Amino acid sequence: MKIAVIGAGYVGLVSAACFAELGHEVITVDNDLEKVNLLISGHIPIHENLLPELVHRHLGTRLHFSGDIRSAVHASDVVFITVGTPPSSNGEADLSYVEGVACELARSLNGRKVIVEKSTVPVRTCEALQHSMVLNGADRNSFTIASNPEFLREGTAVSDFLYPDRIVIGVDCNHSAEILEAIYAPLTDGSYYKREDAIPGPSDAPSRLIVTSVKSAELIKHASNAFLAMKISFINSVANVCESVGADIRQVCEGVGADTRIGPKFLVPGIGYGGSCFPKDVLAFRSVARAVGYDFELLSAVMAVNDGQKERFMEKVRKALWTLRGKRLAVLGLAFKGGTDDVRDSPALGIVRRLAEEGARVVAYDPAATERAAAQLSDLPTVTFAKSAYEACDGSDALLILTEWQEFRKLNLKLVREMLRLPLIIDGRNLLPAEEVEAAGLVYYSVGRQASLAQPAGGDNTKAFAASTSS
Ligand code: NAD
Ligand code: UGA
Repeated sequence: MKIAVIGAGYVGLVSAACFAELGHEVITVDNDLEKVNLLISGHIPIHENLLPELVHRHLGTRLHFSGDIRSAVHASDVVFITVGTPPSSNGEADLSYVEGVACELARSLNGRKVIVEKSTVPVRTCEALQHSMVLNGADRNSFTIASNPEFLREGTAVSDFLYPDRIVIGVDCNHSAEILEAIYAPLTDGSYYKREDAIPGPSDAPSRLIVTSVKSAELIKHASNAFLAMKISFINSVANVCESVGADIRQVCEGVGADTRIGPKFLVPGIGYGGSCFPKDVLAFRSVARAVGYDFELLSAVMAVNDGQKERFMEKVRKALWTLRGKRLAVLGLAFKGGTDDVRDSPALGIVRRLAEEGARVVAYDPAATERAAAQLSDLPTVTFAKSAYEACDGSDALLILTEWQEFRKLNLKLVREMLRLPLIIDGRNLLPAEEVEAAGLVYYSVGRQASLAQPAGGDNTKAFAASTSS
């Protein structure tokens, strides 16, 4: 199949590379020409596991990059739209990028095309897309529109794309259905998984294809993200109760998640969900409901709990350190989650900003997101960046963990204890084994458990505060 992908961001770039991997001819278009030139020269502008391997495998053969939408559409049978749909100031999805593409597509059609909406959009967007294309001069009989929402996660995007729980295609005609079924056939018939050079994944079983109406497909995406966000806010609320009564959220999650109707995934409490999707999609879904006269109160509660979780973490920091003015804090993690350099709506950045505003000096380290975070925090002179976790810890008063990078699990805690001025770790992601932290002589604040009661070796906290503030 000949495919054009419009928008070379996290979703567009991963989808394009994976379509090429499945054997299709792909042209990826972006209107950011700097990005296009980087990609043409083989540079991958985002940190995403397996993506460089996949792009280099197909670059120049089945995978091409261009700034010219018209020629890409001319060369293709199918056009995927993967541009951003950020939140507007009123909470609704800003569809102006999608509309911009619609106008350009209307002017570029030559022969019959299937236009596939892959960006996350409110229900009825495909209707509006069709209307806009006709309004901009496209012949109504020269294209069909389908919805194919994307469920990949950043950090595991390639594997998620090639080994999906399900592929959803929303179609209103057989032609669109046949084209999309053919595109995904190597996954749904399982032939891709038998290839010797296949990217390894969790299972060899053929992927499930779910065919729905266009509107249902659009709704499946918003409902899925809203449900996952709700699961996180739910477990964060349970964690808050655990802290008050002295229960351990890890044990509670094990017991709750063992029920197959609930499942163990997405039950990790923390500093609240972030990223470019959950916050905007929950907001946008609530707006969709409001627009049709339904008050989706549950989603308001999901958002309120999520906001409160950051404030709870700040309270823990204050409880552990008393005052923040003049304290030097090592922060590990700036990305919105582990495995990515994406800092869009990262709870970690919000917390770093609060710490700095309350007078702390922050020395932050992230394995991949430092450059992007530094650009967003450039107005804060008391926030600096370290090249390693240990460099951040050395001479800091306390250590804060804000992103669930796996490499932070492997910290040498005895060394951390020697480097910190106060024996304090405040872990917003429950990454570390509490027993080992305490065995290293550190007081451990985490989420959904009471702080460790062990007195640090060499004195109580009051003396440590005095030493810290007198220097
Ligand atoms: P992104 O901001 O990383 O990428 C969007 C790209 O589109 C940018 O490179 C931008 O330059 C380009 N673009 C904008 N207008 C264009 C135009 N007229 N012509 C050509 N290129 C244009 O966004 P993203 O994170 O990839 O998200 C894209 C969509 O996919 C959003 O709706 C998002 O909600 C959804 N989604 C994202 C993820 C994720 O993990 N990031 C997962 C599933 C779904
Ligand atoms: C999420 C969904 O998981 C994807 O299925 C979806 O395609 C995507 O949004 C999207 O629509 O863009 P992503 O945002 O990449 O993917 O990352 P997640 O792994 O879902 O994490 C989102 C946030 O929730 C992160 O801040 C993460 O730290 C937090 N989280 C996640 C928790 O606090 N607890 C958990 O148990 C899981």
